[in-house]
Amino acid sequence: MAVQISPSILSADFARLADEAARVEGVADWLHVDVMDNHFVPNLTLGLPVVEALLRATPIPVDCHLMIEDPDRWAPGYAEAGAGSVTVHAEAAKAPVRTLRAIRAAGARSGFALNPATSIEAYEDLLPEIDMLLLMTVEPGFGGQRFLDVVLPKITRTRALIEKHGGEIWLQVDGGVSAETIERCAAAGADVFVAGNAVYAADDPAQAVRDLRALALAHPRLG
Ligand code: DX5
Ligand code: ZN
Repeated sequence: MAVQISPSILSADFARLADEAARVEGVADWLHVDVMDNHFVPNLTLGLPVVEALLRATPIPVDCHLMIEDPDRWAPGYAEAGAGSVTVHAEAAKAPVRTLRAIRAAGARSGFALNPATSIEAYEDLLPEIDMLLLMTVEPGFGGQRFLDVVLPKITRTRALIEKHGGEIWLQVDGGVSAETIERCAAAGADVFVAGNAVYAADDPAQAVRDLRALALAHPRLG
């Protein structure tokens, strides 16, 4: 199973985003960008103009995680701007099939995110529309929170569903992923790992990415 690491710039210096991206260039597979609107989550970060600027400033593919209301309206614009992956939340999308198709039609990978309390089983029929499932392992809104072990059984169940449907969908975990928790996520079946604090609070972010990847590779999926 391929392991991918997606450092979250939520924990980077927002005044120096291009430099912060450059610190993980060559080691990170993606750059995870958390778009928050202060409505879907109680925090406000950045939007399309900043993502467009970042796309011009880094060669790293951008992984946009939209924690916003009305993603049906806004998500296709991020794909059209050139984001490699655009993820919308199950709890916010009112027309997820149309929106996931619009993301793909604009040339990006379609991502679908579930909060810790949202079950995957209700969405099995949508799997053909999805390139990546994102399981939140904290309540969304802030970096640096504690990993929620309560989500681990859902990671295992989601991996089983993905395998049942051909195994092509990537399974991303986001929130509290660190050297202490990444092994559990990998063993449960995750293959794309978002890490904010664990990368950008480290003295050497590039080395932190390498270390996380090595830990994930050393703990392949059980069963
Ligand atoms: C939280 C965001 C995460 C956040 C993760 O709502 O979706 O991407 O940046 O940060 P850490 O890795 O510090 O928990
Ligand atoms: Zn995120």
